[in-house]
Amino acid sequence: MSAFHVRRLRLAAALVLLPYVILHFLNHSLGLVSLAAMEAGRWWFLALWRSWPGTAALYGAIVVHGILALWLLYQRRSLRMPAWEALQYTFGLLIPALLVVHVTSSRIAWWLMDADDPYARVVLGLWVLSPQFGGRQVLAVTVVWLHACIGIHYSLRFRRWYPAARPGLFTVALLLPVLALLGFVSAGREVAALAKTPGWVPALLASTQAPDKAEAARLLAIREGFLNSYLLALVVVMLARCVRWLHARRRSLRVAYTTGPIVTAPVGVTILEASRLGRVPHASVCGGRGRCSTCRVRVVRGLDALPAPSEAEQRVLARVGAAPDVRLACQARPARDVTITPLVPPSIDPGGALTPDARQGRERELAVLFADLRGFTRMAEHKLPYDVVFVLNRYFAAVGTAITGAGGVTNQFTGDGVMALFGIDDGPAVGSRQALTAAQAMVEGMTRLNVELAGELTAPLRIGIGIHAGPGVVGWMGWGESFYLTAVGDTVHVAARLEQATKDFQAELVVSDDVARRAGVDLAAFPAHRLEVRNRTEPVAVRVVARVAELRPMLLSAP
Ligand code: FES
Repeated sequence: MSAFHVRRLRLAAALVLLPYVILHFLNHSLGLVSLAAMEAGRWWFLALWRSWPGTAALYGAIVVHGILALWLLYQRRSLRMPAWEALQYTFGLLIPALLVVHVTSSRIAWWLMDADDPYARVVLGLWVLSPQFGGRQVLAVTVVWLHACIGIHYSLRFRRWYPAARPGLFTVALLLPVLALLGFVSAGREVAALAKTPGWVPALLASTQAPDKAEAARLLAIREGFLNSYLLALVVVMLARCVRWLHARRRSLRVAYTTGPIVTAPVGVTILEASRLGRVPHASVCGGRGRCSTCRVRVVRGLDALPAPSEAEQRVLARVGAAPDVRLACQARPARDVTITPLVPPSIDPGGALTPDARQGRERELAVLFADLRGFTRMAEHKLPYDVVFVLNRYFAAVGTAITGAGGVTNQFTGDGVMALFGIDDGPAVGSRQALTAAQAMVEGMTRLNVELAGELTAPLRIGIGIHAGPGVVGWMGWGESFYLTAVGDTVHVAARLEQATKDFQAELVVSDDVARRAGVDLAAFPAHRLEVRNRTEPVAVRVVARVAELRPMLLSAP
């Protein structure tokens, strides 16, 4: 079974355990009402989880989840991992040791000795008789919940709907354990008061057939046996890792990155593990689980040194329309030296995962906008450098807000110019409408900025905007820290030319007929021209909009 399927199975087991934990917490929180309410809730809880199907599902999931965790710990070649993953591993490994006392004294005692474990007896033990175990139980609850929340968050965070759902889920994630712990505290106080009643404690222990001394010793032996076995399993896994490492050390390979570094790693590691061993920043939104595609690399040399992608890897690669020489770094284990190019910047936002748009270079129909400040260079000659930077940053903030507000992506801020892309995901019709809306918002922003900076400027700032729509190659381009989503091609070239033409026409906007047609906006009221563009045989039909404010009625009446 591949690591991908192991993780899938482990996740499925976690999805059985999650409702158990949630219902357990809800049951605890009934303590805020009364001990009797807790007991009533417990009846339903046990009806589900102590039935045969419930028992099989629960213990099956615990065994599968635990054993697969140890298997994955053995499988991973490097223990270097992101902090969140290390935290989740640590919490996961602590859980059995923290819960063993509670499980043996409740479920196992019920199972083997017919001892009933109502809340009154459990809370009596944890709150009154052995408060040190109560503290441990609170710690266990916290660790279990954090382990689950980290897992859920990192499994879901690259889903498109997740950012919108996150505040609600976070509220639930916070409320559930808090209410459970408050319920436990409330029940603890109620039981402590009852325990003062003469004869109440012995009567409770007798009626629930609490384990006697011999049974308690037996439970202790079970507990120690479990802890020793668990510790032994951990030691065996770590020893097996050491043996493998010693063996693998004799055979190593080199992973060369076209961006610079070369990492020497033992044969058997994945490319992502090699990146981690060599401390080469490498995107891995899902933590190497083969689900997000952000680790993907182009194999420039040594493609035949990689085993064919598994079905699961092929599925993920197909979702992003990957070329045949692209592989998931977290799944590909080279047998010999390889040279690769990571295709996604290490700092990718989780929302960008599995987006088959442009992150590795694809042809798209989109709208491209160029804008430039008019006469700013001349104005800057008479200003202190500090003032130039201040004014430019205010300008970039105004146009950047207008672009992103309309749905575009600000791409390049160069000198006093800006390039923006629209419709990468939604297509050129939406992109063209967004670009026209952005142009309008940019000019309005400039008007506000001129009012604000009236005392600083010798003349109002003016802007020239060119917009064209058509095909372009979109992708993440650049190097090192300067890695960004951009577009190249004729459409970009033409849009830049139209922006230049605004100077000749003394206009705020020059827009191609292609944009107007795609946006469904009638620009017949504006003068038409045909512009020659270098390297194009056909001139480009454009409309010249002297004042962008005049566009408003056309945009309002557009479909
Ligand atoms: S890290 Fe997510 S698919 Fe490789």
